[in-house]
Amino acid sequence: MKGKQWYQATDVAERYEDKRFSKGGRLIDRRERRAVLDALGPVEDKKILEIACGTGRFSVMLAERGADVVGMDISGPMLVQGAAKARRAGVTDMVEFIRGDAAGLPFPDDSFDAVFAMRFFHLAPAPERFLEEMRRVTRNTIFFDTFNSFSSRTVYNWLLPMGSRLYDEDDVHRLLRTADLELVRADHDFVVPYGCYRSIPDRLARPIRTVDERVGGTELGDRFASVSYWQAEPR
Ligand SMILES: C[S@@+](CC[C@H](N)C(=O)[O-])C[C@H]1O[C@@H](n2cnc3c(N)ncnc32)[C@H](O)[C@@H]1O
Repeated sequence: MKGKQWYQATDVAERYEDKRFSKGGRLIDRRERRAVLDALGPVEDKKILEIACGTGRFSVMLAERGADVVGMDISGPMLVQGAAKARRAGVTDMVEFIRGDAAGLPFPDDSFDAVFAMRFFHLAPAPERFLEEMRRVTRNTIFFDTFNSFSSRTVYNWLLPMGSRLYDEDDVHRLLRTADLELVRADHDFVVPYGCYRSIPDRLARPIRTVDERVGGTELGDRFASVSYWQAEPR
């Protein structure tokens, strides 16, 4: 799994957010935060695990909202960024960052109210094990995103050095069945691919995003969306 190694480099970790979420990429960050908050609902006093938490964008956001958060990632340098972010936000008592492999979560069954992973499943050629582990440690909500086949992402997906698997709906339904999970909600977005947003200034990206959101609200938009957000529960 190339993605397991790729993010272990310090320079990759240091540039991670700037590369993806500056310029028009801010709109992507905002949308992803909304997706996480929509899926998790009110988080105050909830126990939440984020796997493959990277630089802690979401872990810190949830800690700021009063959740008791564990952020886990296999990359030490990504976690260093997360810990610095938690310090800046003044939430070190609400979020713990630990290093580990999502294939074996070091927690007893049913430890968390919710477990989620963003931008992770595309790095996993065989994500069954990750989803099974997510299911084992959660009492309620499981949430993750996928990058999709039949989308504009196919144009550059093959170029990505960390490897990137694309999913279709059948793949995800099969995964959920295997892990004995029930789909609660699916949202599809970004007919215009991430790569376009992050390469142009915010002011140019905004009108494109407005059109993208309009198209995204249609059946055709869902069909060609490059990202899907999946919320599930144990059966
Ligand atoms: C694209 S980054 C996403 C980070 C964060 N979730 C976000 O959305 O900003 C993918 C992350 O998955 C982590 N990762 C890859 N393989 C992993 C594994 N087997 N267990 C835990 N984390 C892993 C990488 O270290 C990296 O931080």
